[in-house]
Amino acid sequence: MRYVSLSDVKVGQQLAFGIYDYHGKCLAELGDYIDNKIQFYLEDNGFRGVYIEDKETEEIRVNPIVFPKKRAVMMRDVLFCHIPECQEHAETIVQELKKSGDMQLDYLDPRGEKDYIYAHSVNVAIIAGVIGLKMGMPAKRVEQLILAALLHDVGRQRLPDNIGENRGRLSQEEYLTMKLHPSISVQMVREKGYVTEEVRNAILYHHENEDGSGYPDRLTTEKIPVFAKILHVADVYDALTSVRPHKGAYLPIEALEYLEGGAGISFYGPAVSALEDCVPEFPKGTGVFASDGMSGTVLKNIAESKGRPMIVTDKGEIINLSKQGFNNLLLTSIVEHAEYTIEENEVHRREMISGKRHFRLMIVDDQKTNLLLLKDILEEYYELTLLKSGEQAIDFIDNNTCPDLILMDINMPGMDGIQTATIIQQKTSYMVPILFVSSNNDLNTVLACRNLGCAGYIVRPYNSVYIKSAIKEILTGESGQIC
Ligand SMILES: [Fe+2]
Repeated sequence: MRYVSLSDVKVGQQLAFGIYDYHGKCLAELGDYIDNKIQFYLEDNGFRGVYIEDKETEEIRVNPIVFPKKRAVMMRDVLFCHIPECQEHAETIVQELKKSGDMQLDYLDPRGEKDYIYAHSVNVAIIAGVIGLKMGMPAKRVEQLILAALLHDVGRQRLPDNIGENRGRLSQEEYLTMKLHPSISVQMVREKGYVTEEVRNAILYHHENEDGSGYPDRLTTEKIPVFAKILHVADVYDALTSVRPHKGAYLPIEALEYLEGGAGISFYGPAVSALEDCVPEFPKGTGVFASDGMSGTVLKNIAESKGRPMIVTDKGEIINLSKQGFNNLLLTSIVEHAEYTIEENEVHRREMISGKRHFRLMIVDDQKTNLLLLKDILEEYYELTLLKSGEQAIDFIDNNTCPDLILMDINMPGMDGIQTATIIQQKTSYMVPILFVSSNNDLNTVLACRNLGCAGYIVRPYNSVYIKSAIKEILTGESGQIC
């Protein structure tokens, strides 16, 4: 069998695993041939790809730890928060993991985006189980860890749809609502049955960071329960390797590098190291290209030679890439994945560990060129509202959710920036910071703005790095260019 990305899925290919939704409904059986209906379902539900059977790769067998049919049953029990059933699933996962040998995370879950929360919960359960066992925890404790993982996000169901399902970036208010989900999960679990205090605390604290920047209680390293630390690592690893509306999927190795970068700061180092031992650079059944032009599919990963798998070439030869003659070749994965700049990765990293915050900025300036210039600099990072007069700004404040920051010109026909800012401050009880951006550098004007208690004053022409940094500092209290 081999993994094919969605764009390479073709009618007539034979499925290596069945396809089920989170209600357990079977949409295609193992061995079925892909037809137009299945292809449409995969596209419509945001699948990344599927495993297919073909002659050339028949020797390759990928172990998903929990097969899709059983996964669907687990997903349904997570959906209904069936605690005794989830306890049994936890036992099953431990048994399967113990049978599976090295590199347990060789399977890329091709799940659909619409099943995200439930598929995510099952994946986090498997990943947390792998970490727990690798860290030497006894099987009975790992079962409790897995139970917590299965139930860690059940509370998301009770959030408004767009927040709970995490479709896209969240506004500040939505983000604050999102932060309630660990407590809601604990509440739901209490309503549905009994779990130990250790399981409840793992659920409650699975978004805490080692440095105290997480939520709900901003706990620091020694106060965070070890189960919660492991869930946090498993949770972020799975979120990174999946497609979300606001981001593409990282390759497993990229997700691992990201976690390594945050070890000791956001993530518990020993859990990251344990995971590292079980994540192959090139998962079994996925395609690779070598720097000499050879291409093939990964047959086997070998723990002692990480990143140098055995492959079946497109010509049917089996080659061990750790052996002499091949060990200098550079390998590239051909699994479709998102490629991000360092800056974009940094945005994702922050979102992943502290939730998605998407600040809203209102920019008020009568000159179109000034508005467009600020739009160019800021639209990548913020949700912008561009307005051309003080009157429009006040009307907007009266009828919409307040922005997180206002950038205000001073010299405008009609109501000027200072008059507008004064009215907005009264209407919002001084809750919205105002940053003046103006070519007017007259001292009296600057002092008048300062007396209003404005957040800052930037004189045009400005440097784009400077303005990004000033905005970030006002919004988060941190220096740097973006937030
Ligand atoms: Fe969560």
